[in-house]
Amino acid sequence: MALNRWLGTLLIVSALGFAGCGQPTKKNPDSQPTAAATKTMAETPAPAETAAAETPAPAETAAPDAAATPAEAGSTAAAGSREAMEEDFENADGMAGYEDVLKMEVPPSSPDVLAKGKEVFAANCASCHGDAGMGDGAAGANLDPKPRNLTVASEYKYGHLELAVYRTGAYGVEGTGMAPLGDVLEPEEMWAVTHYIRSLQK
Ligand code: HEC
Repeated sequence: MALNRWLGTLLIVSALGFAGCGQPTKKNPDSQPTAAATKTMAETPAPAETAAAETPAPAETAAPDAAATPAEAGSTAAAGSREAMEEDFENADGMAGYEDVLKMEVPPSSPDVLAKGKEVFAANCASCHGDAGMGDGAAGANLDPKPRNLTVASEYKYGHLELAVYRTGAYGVEGTGMAPLGDVLEPEEMWAVTHYIRSLQK
């Protein structure tokens, strides 16, 4: 008998609790079960809110990570990446053709492109820069400044990556023997010799 009454009370409390949940605006502020139900109601959303508040956090964390990956790759990876090229190219900021070359896409290299670049180099650059690009060509012997040794990346003054080498070849270095060769050579030939020069660098 006592158990039945206890169960009955439990049932009523549960029912009131349920009703309270279903109708948060229910009027009966003094009744205990309603207060209990209100407490339950107040607590119930908490985990949901916490979950909701936490859910975007990993997503937000993931987004900058994903964005950071290419940037990191750009700064540390292969010297030919766009970011590395633009950073290197800042050495030529303000020089002839800088703004125009900055907008260019670098066409890909290939064995054929390198073979063509080697020919272009032999015909147009080797007289000063030397057959192997060491800066020891006969036509450059009396120049001041001397033609660059193109095989040593650290000796370039205006950048040694693709955008920079292209600009130097096409627009030259004012006041030196490094004349602008963009009028003599087609862009395709300039890019080929650029890739070839990059292949000589150590
Ligand atoms: C008449 C001689 C001469 C010829 C021909 C010549 N160069 Fe140069 N080049 C120079 C001189 C001199 C310098 C050094 C300029 C300086 O110190 O500012 C130089 C420097 C360079 C540099 C290095 C720039 C730097 O950042 O330090 C590159 C790259 C270059 N030349 C590319 C070429 C290419 C490509 C060709 C052929 C298409 C070519 N040059 C033909 C004389 C020449």
